[in-house]
Amino acid sequence: MRGLRGGACAGGGVVAVSGDMNKPPSDDQPDDLLRDIWYFALPSGALEPGRLVSRSLLGDPVVFGRGPDGAAFALRDICPHRGIPLSDGRMTSGEVECRYHGWRFGANGVCTAIPSLVEGQDMDISRIRVRRYPIHEAQGCIWIFMAGDGSVEPPPPPALPEVADRPRLVETMEFPCHVDHAVVGLMDPAHGPFVHKSWWWRSRRSIHAKEKRFGPSELGFSMLRHAPSSNSAAYRILGGEMTTEIAFRLPGIRIEHVKAGRNALVGLTAVTPITAETTIIHQMMYWTMPWLSALRPILRPFVRKFLGQDRDIVVQQQRGLRHDPTLLLINDADMQAKWYYRLKKAHERSIAEGVAFENPVRETTLRWRS
Ligand code: FES
Ligand SMILES: [Fe+2]
Repeated sequence: MRGLRGGACAGGGVVAVSGDMNKPPSDDQPDDLLRDIWYFALPSGALEPGRLVSRSLLGDPVVFGRGPDGAAFALRDICPHRGIPLSDGRMTSGEVECRYHGWRFGANGVCTAIPSLVEGQDMDISRIRVRRYPIHEAQGCIWIFMAGDGSVEPPPPPALPEVADRPRLVETMEFPCHVDHAVVGLMDPAHGPFVHKSWWWRSRRSIHAKEKRFGPSELGFSMLRHAPSSNSAAYRILGGEMTTEIAFRLPGIRIEHVKAGRNALVGLTAVTPITAETTIIHQMMYWTMPWLSALRPILRPFVRKFLGQDRDIVVQQQRGLRHDPTLLLINDADMQAKWYYRLKKAHERSIAEGVAFENPVRETTLRWRS
């Protein structure tokens, strides 16, 4: 069990967390990756028509393609004949053709052709199927529903605020850690002045007390709309009366919605497990200001540097986690991490018991220094 372990200690609401998030899954120790939920799979731009893209998601091999109408599809990346990855084959007439014996599969995973069959060898090839994953593509994002035992109907996929129909900036980075550490690290409000210190963002001298209002939102919680903190120099260049709202939802999706006068900016940070030990982060940005697009070549290295700082700290963290320490979550700086673990439990319970998801988060004010 890699989630919360132990209870609140006396005084100060300290909670111990199992540090064991990096051992390979076994029967009595599941990988603790949420199933029956929508994950961010890949940016639309990464899936060109006529190409096959292979990805590992939660340890599952998945092949993505586009059918004749351009609609994205996802299949299990294993040919049911001899097990070669379908992604080693090719797209032809909107179908996947296996590299080994040329069997073909449609976007729905149903076999459509077996070239070795001769006349009279009657065989209902439509009974041969590759597992198909539900897909949703919108606003330049391809979402995938990673089912558990297949008994749960996919709920509506996540939606972004309507700012632009495609991202203006996309960055991707792999973190060598379990998804929980990536999520907790990215939502952590207290590491900024230490991990991200730089002249354009934060310094230790800029640390001050903060107080933010939070409340429950769909499959997660939100830092309610507020004026952003005065020590974030990068915000100032956007201009106008500025407010921001940050929503987090399971499994690891953070949506920041900045409004600045008539303009708006949306940042999507999507955390997706590749396996139980590796996680991929996609950072997508949407905005309305044309002048910001002109600044993209300057903006991109900043985004990469920022993500790289978060990755580097995770790499260092792994050296300690190898020894399986018990970890701590403290109030209020780690409250969002506590909510994350509670939300995961609530989601797992709702799936296991077939009942509605009950959000454990209540509206409250959190205070910390950063
Ligand atoms: S292994 Fe795929 S067609 Fe034979
Ligand atoms: Fe960070």
